[in-house]
Amino acid sequence: MQLNANLSQRAVMRSAQLDWVPSPAAGIHRKMLERDGEEVARATSIVRYAQGSQFPTHTHGGGEEILVLEGVFEDEYGSHPAGTYLKNPVGTSHAPGSSKGCTLFVKLRHMDSRDTEQARIHWPTAQWRQGLVPGLKVLPLAEFETQHTALVRWAPGTVFNMHRHMGGEEIFVIEGSLQDENGVYHQGDWIRSPHLSTHKPSSPEGCLIFVKTGHLLVHQSQPFRSAGVYAKQIQVADDFDNTSGGLIDLFEKGDL
Ligand SMILES: [Fe+2]
Ligand SMILES: [Fe+2]
Repeated sequence: MQLNANLSQRAVMRSAQLDWVPSPAAGIHRKMLERDGEEVARATSIVRYAQGSQFPTHTHGGGEEILVLEGVFEDEYGSHPAGTYLKNPVGTSHAPGSSKGCTLFVKLRHMDSRDTEQARIHWPTAQWRQGLVPGLKVLPLAEFETQHTALVRWAPGTVFNMHRHMGGEEIFVIEGSLQDENGVYHQGDWIRSPHLSTHKPSSPEGCLIFVKTGHLLVHQSQPFRSAGVYAKQIQVADDFDNTSGGLIDLFEKGDL
């Protein structure tokens, strides 16, 4: 299956307008945002576990990132309530389930095999940092070479600088709404902007978004990249850091 599979193309999916599709596991449904492959695929989805549902034990061949949006998600590592970010590197395994039911945002098989950091962060109680512009708060979640992952909270009326996405940018709107030159994005919307795209986002209403940058330069099956392409990526990223105020800077220059 190929759904928004070309990472060099902009994609917008509005999950509130999508139908739930059954997964192979009883009581577990999903809404597909992007997919490159069949049942084993590089994929981004919204996943809903009914009360008491269980997914079979599996090993993460290409890593996994999860946001718990509602309810409580459970596995051998513990109970993960709404507001939890989980990062399970390549090679980890678990048998997840949910006794009370839950809804998740899930990214699969997109991680570099050399990125071995495991993470579990509860964002309502974590230490947030001041962002680059007034009204912006940032919670870094993960970092690997040029890739940055964070939650960003926008107070109502916050306006961010025009910026360019080195290695692309992916946003999932968790609460509220965000807008830019290309549209307005509400809770549950997913936006993927390719390498070198630009925009000037703002949030009249305020919002909470999940943001990944720097991971969309190579549109080949992850996690392996050639050394040549990787060297070029570093060089371009250095140029960018010196000339522009992009989201990458949010993580490097934000004062506590
Ligand atoms: Fe998993
Ligand atoms: Fe951006």
